[in-house]
Amino acid sequence: MLQQQTIDTIKATIPVLEQHGVTITKTFYSNLFNAHPALFHIFNRTNQQKGRQQTALANTVYAAAVHIENLEALLPAVLKIAHKHRSLGVLPEHYPIVGEFLLGAIKEVLHEAATDDILNAWAQAYGVIADIFISVEEDLYQQAEANNGWRFFKPFEIAAKVAQSDVATTFTLTPVDGQTLPAVRAGQYVSLRTAIPGEPFLCNRQYTITHATANAYEITVKREEGDGVVSNYLHDAPIGTTVDISVPAGDFVYEAAPSTLFISGGIGVTPLHAMLQQVTTGDVAFIQCARNAQVAAFSEQIAAKVEALGGMYKTIYSDTEGYITKEQIEALLTADTHVYVCGPTPFMEAVHNALTQLHVDASRIHVEFFGPAIAM
Ligand code: HEM
Repeated sequence: MLQQQTIDTIKATIPVLEQHGVTITKTFYSNLFNAHPALFHIFNRTNQQKGRQQTALANTVYAAAVHIENLEALLPAVLKIAHKHRSLGVLPEHYPIVGEFLLGAIKEVLHEAATDDILNAWAQAYGVIADIFISVEEDLYQQAEANNGWRFFKPFEIAAKVAQSDVATTFTLTPVDGQTLPAVRAGQYVSLRTAIPGEPFLCNRQYTITHATANAYEITVKREEGDGVVSNYLHDAPIGTTVDISVPAGDFVYEAAPSTLFISGGIGVTPLHAMLQQVTTGDVAFIQCARNAQVAAFSEQIAAKVEALGGMYKTIYSDTEGYITKEQIEALLTADTHVYVCGPTPFMEAVHNALTQLHVDASRIHVEFFGPAIAM
């Protein structure tokens, strides 16, 4: 446990670290990758280049510091990150390296303001936080290995490809070793890792499992303009191409409830579509937001499933109808509706604000950002 003096030092230095947070984490990543370029085999370089990961790590370190006297409060956020770390193969031995470069970056940016006392206090706090991650992640590795699973990655073959819309394709992935696959909870994702010609490091991405059987996982991938290195590679890859896959991960999963409303933005429809397929009873409504009908993936399957359940399905196409409104959400809410929301960050913020204004209790709001968890 941390001593009170250490806790006081941490708390006293949070404002200054917050002020320099993004510079510190940028310095940290740049020094880390210069010294350990092989870590790019684990990290998503597009996220690095866009600065997304800097923000995510900075936010987490401050959140940890703010809750340093009550780290249990962080456990839900830790679990979400730990799922991602486990799916990417982050290991205990990586933590001291990250710690060393984080501390080094604090020193480099704050200069003499970073006294030995301050650096020692943060080193101790980092150690406590890292130990929590390491132990939660070891549990997840053990769970991954249980029930037909495996610890890190194993090769899968692209067995089939089916276009879902003008921009999204479903890929069927089967394990090369032919073993039975572990069960998936609706909403979970896999990390996919592959070498791509012209890319200096292995590329990793996370994709929601849109359908699973004992022998195959399906993922649905949007073709990206510009920086979609992996998505474009997959779209162009011939049947029979192998990619590495880790055991399904993630705690954004569907729990049966008497009343459920799904609200998706863009390709965020994939986990919600997977969850909807699990619904067997109860009131259900689905709002699918997309730019237009051509890019709205799964709309036919969603409409058919909602109709079979006697529920409500509504599309909102921003090209012609604008963005989703509070009133449109309110029309589909009851006093006990559980709401599942997934989409890009600005969409999520707008929907979350609307739900809060509509007094939907936080325990009934289930959200997943697509991309790193920037706003934790
Ligand atoms: C992702 C925090 C240690 C590798 C993340 C995310 C956060 C985070 C907040 C974003 C999660 C999301 O996308 O939902 C932390 C904290 C750490 C830590 C607070 C230390 C206590 C490590 C270590 C490694 C690592 C030791 C391995 C070298 C990664 C990778 C990702 C990630 C590869 C995914 C990045 C991406 O896809 O852009 N981490 N992390 N992290 N972390 Fe960590």
